[in-house]
Amino acid sequence: MAEQMQWGILSTGAIARAFAQSIPHSETGALLAVASRTQEAADCFGAEFNIPRCYGSYEALLADPDVQAVYLATPHPMHAEWVVKAAEAGKHILCEKPFTLNAAEAACALDAVRRHDVFLMEAFMYRAHPQTARLVELIRQGAVGAVRVIQATFSFHGEFRPEWRLFKHELGGGGILDVGCYCASMVRLLAGAALGQPFAEPLSVKAFGHLGETRVDEYAVAIAQFPGDVLAQLSCGGRLHQENIVRVYGDEGYLVVPTPWVPIPQGGVASIVVYRHGEEAREIHIETGQWIYAIEMDHVAAHLAARQAPAMPWDDTLGNMRMLDRWRAEIGMVYDMEV
Ligand SMILES: NC(=O)c1ccc[n+]([C@@H]2O[C@H](COP(=O)([O-])OP(=O)(O)OC[C@H]3O[C@@H](n4cnc5c(N)ncnc54)[C@H](OP(=O)(O)O)[C@@H]3O)[C@@H](O)[C@H]2O)c1
Repeated sequence: MAEQMQWGILSTGAIARAFAQSIPHSETGALLAVASRTQEAADCFGAEFNIPRCYGSYEALLADPDVQAVYLATPHPMHAEWVVKAAEAGKHILCEKPFTLNAAEAACALDAVRRHDVFLMEAFMYRAHPQTARLVELIRQGAVGAVRVIQATFSFHGEFRPEWRLFKHELGGGGILDVGCYCASMVRLLAGAALGQPFAEPLSVKAFGHLGETRVDEYAVAIAQFPGDVLAQLSCGGRLHQENIVRVYGDEGYLVVPTPWVPIPQGGVASIVVYRHGEEAREIHIETGQWIYAIEMDHVAAHLAARQAPAMPWDDTLGNMRMLDRWRAEIGMVYDMEV
């Protein structure tokens, strides 16, 4: 068996736990280390997931020469700082979404990644999933004809807790950065597929949103125009129940992706339904035996040498951050740290 890639996790929050649970299901990864801002939390997390090395600071983990790649799972405002520090330490990086707070930070962080010649991928796990590859293929093959409108929605109705990162300015709260980033990345991907490119940038973005009592966006919608008059509708929120779905309407029919963001988390059969005008609905099955975060880890390992992952290349990440900047600017969602 090939040597396994040695991962270190920076932070011990909710998604760090999902990652730690998934590593044993990956074909390429091993969990060597975890770091927290406190030794106690690192030890507790390490004991739960059987992690050999537990560090009481992120710096200490980055100084461990045996850690090859780090999974960065802090709140978004800390991503840029730790991407730069991890790159300086020569570690490959899987950084949680959104990559940074804004496009200016993203450009600086990517510059460090380039200078230190390390791998980086923004952790949009759905991008590495075979369902997404099939979706792109269907669009490219003209399954719905010429693409006219793409709809992407992602939201949840979180309980209002002002201390939760979702509601705090200093922790990058708000739905656009938390889940709207998925919608932006999806419509850019599918507009690109419609235009025969890996991804596309919007010509225009218009938006509305509701800022709540902690002055972060609790729900927001955007419309975007891409080249070729491919149009997109996006809607997201942390205080909004809606159907989380992707639909693509073309001149010959439309398709629906019922579980676009976390398709079959622990493996199984996902589906995309294609409705062509005048024909019976066709359900397309996508089967995988793998856990979604394990697929992402294996994607990182497979593309380490190229430094970028085809699922989410650097220019795609930068373009996504620019689109999120435009969405936020439209609704006046400026973080205190950005003023
Ligand atoms: N891909 C996905 O499916 C997915 C799902 C959820 C979240 N995410 C992304 O992952 C990131 C973390 O989200 P989460 O839900 O896991 O957050 P969380 O539960 O609040 O955990 C964040 C962790 O970051 C560390 N941290 C470092 N500086 C901090 C600070 N100043 N304040 C608070 N925590 C700090 C803490 O770990 P220590 O105390 O151990 O240092 C904390 O436990 C976000 O960027 C989010 O967008 C991705």
